[in-house]
Amino acid sequence: MDLARRLAERGRFTVAPNPLVGAVVLRDEAVVGEGWHARAGEDHAEIRALTGAGDAALGSTLFVTLEPCNHHGRTPPCVEAIRRAGVSRVVVGALDPDPRMRGRSVEILREAGIEVEVLEDPACERQNEQFFHRMRTGRPFVHVKLATTLDGRIAAPGGDSKWVTGEAARLRAHALRAEAGAVLVGAGTVRADDPTLTARGLPEPPPTLTRIVLDPNLTTSPKSTLALTAPESPVVVFADAENLDGKEGALLDAGVEVVAAPRDGGGIDLGFVLDELGRRGIKGVLVEGGGETATGFVERGLANKLTLFYAPKLIGSEGVPMIGALRATRMAEALRFSVFGVEAVDEDVAVTLYPATGEEEKRVHRAC
Ligand SMILES: NC(=O)c1ccc[n+]([C@@H]2O[C@H](COP(=O)([O-])OP(=O)(O)OC[C@H]3O[C@@H](n4cnc5c(N)ncnc54)[C@H](OP(=O)(O)O)[C@@H]3O)[C@@H](O)[C@H]2O)c1
Repeated sequence: MDLARRLAERGRFTVAPNPLVGAVVLRDEAVVGEGWHARAGEDHAEIRALTGAGDAALGSTLFVTLEPCNHHGRTPPCVEAIRRAGVSRVVVGALDPDPRMRGRSVEILREAGIEVEVLEDPACERQNEQFFHRMRTGRPFVHVKLATTLDGRIAAPGGDSKWVTGEAARLRAHALRAEAGAVLVGAGTVRADDPTLTARGLPEPPPTLTRIVLDPNLTTSPKSTLALTAPESPVVVFADAENLDGKEGALLDAGVEVVAAPRDGGGIDLGFVLDELGRRGIKGVLVEGGGETATGFVERGLANKLTLFYAPKLIGSEGVPMIGALRATRMAEALRFSVFGVEAVDEDVAVTLYPATGEEEKRVHRAC
């Protein structure tokens, strides 16, 4: 299954909106077929692996990271191909997260006399965390990424943030953008940095990213880099519904989509934003800051994952903080995370975290 998961990774930047899937055919303890799903509309991983195996698939064991499909989509059903190839055992990494499909292919294979083992392997689910999350909630998976100094500052006092981290970490951030498929920033970052928010320097041709701005007062200029590049890579600006009084015209003319959003307390309703993005088929969003924007997602329990790139620098408390007020008064009220990975990225350190899931965490997070 490790090999199947590694094969699935080959589709990381090309397979969307489909999930990553890898497959291995094993016969007499030797690998006789390997496959991965590269692009929607192309052969599924199982088909590639079985085609590679040819006659050796007869009596083999097929390892596949995600439950095979049983429907006629753009390609014929994989369960049928597995049956026809004479596979005698199938090992499934994770069941289909779609409640209408879940476990159905396993049943069909068993009814055809094929032995099936379901691992429910957390690593297989994590590999497709965006796909699983979107299937279960209808909302995109929210990954918050920040580049910070050791003292938790994302920019110098005047707003200068070029650059907090080194080139390798910045390149890594571009891969995270491509992986997510959409990037979201606050209006403060657009005003301070005039960013492009595209994915560059990747091995594969960069995917077209959807670029999203939380801009309640519609301060994004039609002359901003985002607006000027909107025809090539879509831009969606969420503005406070009450502030839309016709000033969106210039942005609309530039090809920017402006969405009127309701308020939740002081700011834009982030639950509404995620529902809207989910409706547009967006499966993942990389929230790139700044601090105020990241705070909104984190404090409402809407951040599904965090990656913090720590630069070995101190800028002092006058710098722009990576997180704003969370209204905690005791350490017991701190938001908690579990560390998934710590990795040196050239001179910087990347820390990957997931929200802790204990009872205390549920109490502190405001439901959204
Ligand atoms: N190191 C890094 O990783 C990194 C990443 C990004 C940015 N930065 C730096 O961070 C600085 C900007 O950070 P920041 O914290 O000042 O600003 P920010 O988070 O980029 O933007 C904050 C603004 O976005 C809008 N906004 C965000 N969330 C909202 C919500 N839920 N509801 C309504 N409006 C919302 C508001 O716009 P209005 O102000 O119009 O009300 C708010 O003031 C810049 O200096 C930039 O260079 C660093």
